[in-house]
Amino acid sequence: MPLMTEPTTDARVDPAPSPVPAPAPRTHAVGPVPGARAIEVARRSDEPVQDAGVGVEIEHLDAYYGNRRVLRDITLTVHPNSVTAIIGPSGCGKSTLIRCLNRMHEVTPGARVAGEVRLDGDDIYAPGVDPVVVRQRIGMVFQRPNPFPTMSIYDNVVAGLKLAGIRDRSLLDEVAERSLRRAALWDEVRDKLSAPGGALSGGQQQRLCIARAIAVEPEVVLMDEPASALDPMSTLKIEELIAALRASYTIVIVTHNMQQAARVSDRTAFLTVGDDRSGFLVEEGPTAQIFTNPRRQLTEDYISGRFG
Ligand SMILES: Nc1ncnc2c1ncn2[C@@H]1O[C@H](COP(=O)(O)OP(=O)(O)OP(=O)(O)O)[C@@H](O)[C@H]1O
Ligand SMILES: [Mg+2]
Repeated sequence: MPLMTEPTTDARVDPAPSPVPAPAPRTHAVGPVPGARAIEVARRSDEPVQDAGVGVEIEHLDAYYGNRRVLRDITLTVHPNSVTAIIGPSGCGKSTLIRCLNRMHEVTPGARVAGEVRLDGDDIYAPGVDPVVVRQRIGMVFQRPNPFPTMSIYDNVVAGLKLAGIRDRSLLDEVAERSLRRAALWDEVRDKLSAPGGALSGGQQQRLCIARAIAVEPEVVLMDEPASALDPMSTLKIEELIAALRASYTIVIVTHNMQQAARVSDRTAFLTVGDDRSGFLVEEGPTAQIFTNPRRQLTEDYISGRFG
């Protein structure tokens, strides 16, 4: 789906000036309507999408809250169809970084970015890019499960599609079932799809949020400490789910849990806070290398628990 749709002004955001010119509109296999990819996929096949994730290139990214720079000169490539873990001490800007990847950062009043983030080659901050389309292509799951509590389980899953104007009941049914199956929740909720989302357990609610995020067929899924509020069994389920989703999506996960980063991720990026109180990238590489043979002393100190 092209990032550019009709020229839009998003009243909620502070359109950050972009130092780079807008790329030429791309032609893409799917249409410009959010949710269109889900329609195409639903019509094509019942199988999970394979190799549908795309890469994200972050270049010289700075992030600010007001005058305060909280991320400094981040350059990082997120590889397609892989799990990238972001680790680092509290306050180093992990949440801010992933919020910059789907233009959620700028929703905070006074927050802005400089630099470039490219999704499958397209600068998501280029003038004319619709943040709504960016957020549809790059979905997000938060630390605390946040289903719409009074809305039914079914309606929670298809909320994004309905928002995009999709009303075809059989298509919605198909997407709801497939998303819940992929989120490993179907068997637990198939008999109570009309129950409110808020009536599920915390772990189930988080899987419901994952189902909701993937129902619109994003290419990238961002997860900010998705299991930190969950018990060990639910955490295990989420970790198994992440491993399974890797085939279809590109995943970026923020975690404080080193064992979790080591278990679920292919690559790890370590951020820390500099003397100027800005977060910066210390190093990034294959997870096994970062945890067993880091190149930088700062990384070694952090993973061995001497700092942070
Ligand atoms: N809405 C905000 N307004 C102003 N400053 C903020 C805001 N959100 C975060 N910050 C600041 O930005 C810096 C980075 O915060 P961020 O939440 O990205 O860190 P983090 O690495 O995710 O931390 P944690 O591990 O505790 O979740 C911190 O210094 C924080 O105080
Ligand atoms: Mg955080």
